[in-house]
Amino acid sequence: MGGTGLERQRELSVTVEVHVRPGDARRALRSEVLAGLCSGRQPKELSPKWLYDERGSQLFDEITRLPEYYPTRREREILEAHAGDIARASGADTLLELGSGSSEKTRLLLDAMRSTGNLRRFVPFDVSERFLRQAAEAVAREYSGLRVHAVVGDFERHLGKLPGGGRRLVAFLGGTIGNMKPAERARFYAELSAGLEPGEGLLLGTDLLKCRDRLFAAYNDRAGVTAAFNRNVLSVLNRELEADFELEAFEHLAPFDEENGWVEMRLISVRPQAVRLPAVERYVNFAEGEVLRTEVSCKFRPEQVEAELTAAGLRLVERWTDAAGDFALSLALKR
Ligand code: AVJ
Repeated sequence: MGGTGLERQRELSVTVEVHVRPGDARRALRSEVLAGLCSGRQPKELSPKWLYDERGSQLFDEITRLPEYYPTRREREILEAHAGDIARASGADTLLELGSGSSEKTRLLLDAMRSTGNLRRFVPFDVSERFLRQAAEAVAREYSGLRVHAVVGDFERHLGKLPGGGRRLVAFLGGTIGNMKPAERARFYAELSAGLEPGEGLLLGTDLLKCRDRLFAAYNDRAGVTAAFNRNVLSVLNRELEADFELEAFEHLAPFDEENGWVEMRLISVRPQAVRLPAVERYVNFAEGEVLRTEVSCKFRPEQVEAELTAAGLRLVERWTDAAGDFALSLALKR
């Protein structure tokens, strides 16, 4: 009966290493809210990681299927065409994926690495333990003999904890690097690079600069999914901090900021209001029209990506784009 199931379980090689303690997220949210909403900073700001509770993750998933939201499709197109090139050019036996581990993109890379005969280990790295365990076990079941070593951590804090050994390729896909402003990015690349051995690499997905109308459409979709995704962060604050944000009292707008080269998600207060934040014993006041920034999503010129990687000691080996030139995957190896 259960015999075969048990045996299969026993053969799976899944380990989970946890670097976040229960309560870490709530504590971090409190200190961010104090600094970003209550300290007089202009504009008020929260980091985008709070957008991704369970509901937010579902909404983001829906975003990736919207007709206006091209990045996910474009990146998949590139991987479908070039996963083999990536596997060969990296020579990696270990795929280490930052933020996620359930997507079909992961499988495209794993399949290509298996075809080169090099694939030995998969290291998914994510903040959500539950999600990560599920993803790790699913991959281990699909790829027999693959060692899966999942790491629960926050890549802003735990990059130094990435497990070593073998020849690693770190994949940071989806354009998530765009959530970091230039100084944060420089720190991220430097830290990542410091942890790599010569010849190990980074596969980086970046959204590219393009006409502002398409950028606007992608982040202000007609169906209003991105608006719901953005407003959902207020539900997160309501739940985690016992706050009393009214979601209808904030409008979604995501304009392209030409000067900074980023799309910025805003929640705009439709009237003057004071919102209670019991968990930090504060009120936060909003003037009519006042902006709360919930995300920046940087758009890049390819040469800019190369320059930033080079500055961190990561040599660009190859760059692939989709046919429309909307999105890029860059492979860079540690010198
Ligand atoms: C997951 C950060 C890549 O910036 O395009 C989608 C998030 N925000 N629509 C992006 C997002 C609004 C997305 N990243």
